[in-house]
Amino acid sequence: MSIVGQDVNNPGAVAAPEVERFSKPQINATLPRVLRKVLALQDLEEPARRYLPRPIFGYVSGGAETNAALRGNRSAFDDLVFMPNALVDVSKRSIKTTLFGRTYNAPFGFSPMGGTSMVAYQGDVVLARTAAEENIPMIMSGASLTKLEDVRAAGRTAWFQAYLPGETDRIQLLVDRVERAGYDTLVLTIDTPVNANRENNVRSGFYKPLRPTPQLAFDCLTHPRWFFGMLVRTIMNHGMPHFENMGERVPLISSKSERDRGNRDELNWAHVELMRRIWKGKLVIKGVLNKQVARKARESGVDGIIVSNHGGRQLDYSVAPLRVLPGIAAEAKGITVMMDGGIRRGTDVLKALALGAQFVFVGRPILYATAIGGAVGLRHVVKLLREEVGRDMALLGINRIDEMTKDLLLPAHGFNGLSFADINQAPSPD
Ligand code: GLV
Repeated sequence: MSIVGQDVNNPGAVAAPEVERFSKPQINATLPRVLRKVLALQDLEEPARRYLPRPIFGYVSGGAETNAALRGNRSAFDDLVFMPNALVDVSKRSIKTTLFGRTYNAPFGFSPMGGTSMVAYQGDVVLARTAAEENIPMIMSGASLTKLEDVRAAGRTAWFQAYLPGETDRIQLLVDRVERAGYDTLVLTIDTPVNANRENNVRSGFYKPLRPTPQLAFDCLTHPRWFFGMLVRTIMNHGMPHFENMGERVPLISSKSERDRGNRDELNWAHVELMRRIWKGKLVIKGVLNKQVARKARESGVDGIIVSNHGGRQLDYSVAPLRVLPGIAAEAKGITVMMDGGIRRGTDVLKALALGAQFVFVGRPILYATAIGGAVGLRHVVKLLREEVGRDMALLGINRIDEMTKDLLLPAHGFNGLSFADINQAPSPD
């Protein structure tokens, strides 16, 4: 196995194998018992469901209303199949990917998730530290319970994702704070002008902040590993967690406090333009699902967009990001296009790259891994996905991430109204 040395761009990053040469999934007896049967990212959901109190698991796993957008994210991947090349020397293949001038060890990173520090002890810090060790980006959620300063100090590959109201002074304050903390990439989420309608949260008793009810006490006590390993341990070592990065600090458990969301429904392009003027680092917009938004982002001087429907958690029936990726990538011309939503497999990563994403982010499985296995769980999942991408590239006959093009894809049964010819263009001259 060829090993890559330290990357000059990324001092401190762990050297990663250039080629992952595992031929078949195997049970790794050195892993904690709970991770031994995790052979793929989907295997994480069931142990996480058992580990987490019902309202918290429901909050993380669920989507909005009927969950149609959530399901659609996955089913989009099933609508594409591969036409692999063959008899290519793929022994030197590499999954390294360059994004915003930095070379990462994989074409994927961790999506922002406000639930991180609710599911795992010091969850955001574990994510940031592990992402830096693995040399992949991690996006810290503005809705999280950890101070954004502590997360950036834990890992230099952390980006910050903001939920912002359309209020100039609050935008200025947050941008200054993010800059002082040392972040180089700021992500603005644009698909949350109002709270989503998440009926599953109401049914399971989830509320932000959590309400101290007899039902919550029952849910905690019936999940003692989470209750003692995460909640009691956090309170004993760090006090009651608070929502730290959005206006006033609000405790995780409170009978009457409300989070201070500000006037998010007033946020508009003028605020993006303001952010562009005052933020010196890379500016990314997350939640793009249509070409006009992508074009406006480019014209506003944004450096990158994340094509995303918020994991199906905002507008139900919003289109799966994978389905609109080709059109958006064409419109984005020159700015960086990334995607999240439904990525569970190496094949998913490669399909998104083929349709125009330069990078993808993974959400829920990352939280589940951190919940059930902390940093060990997280590293296990990164390794699984890295191995899958590397193996799939070999099977597709490609050596580099940028060789993953639409020519290797075919609609399984019609895709986005595209025909075989649309995707495959003209036949080869020979
Ligand atoms: C936060 O981003 C959420 O979707 O709950």
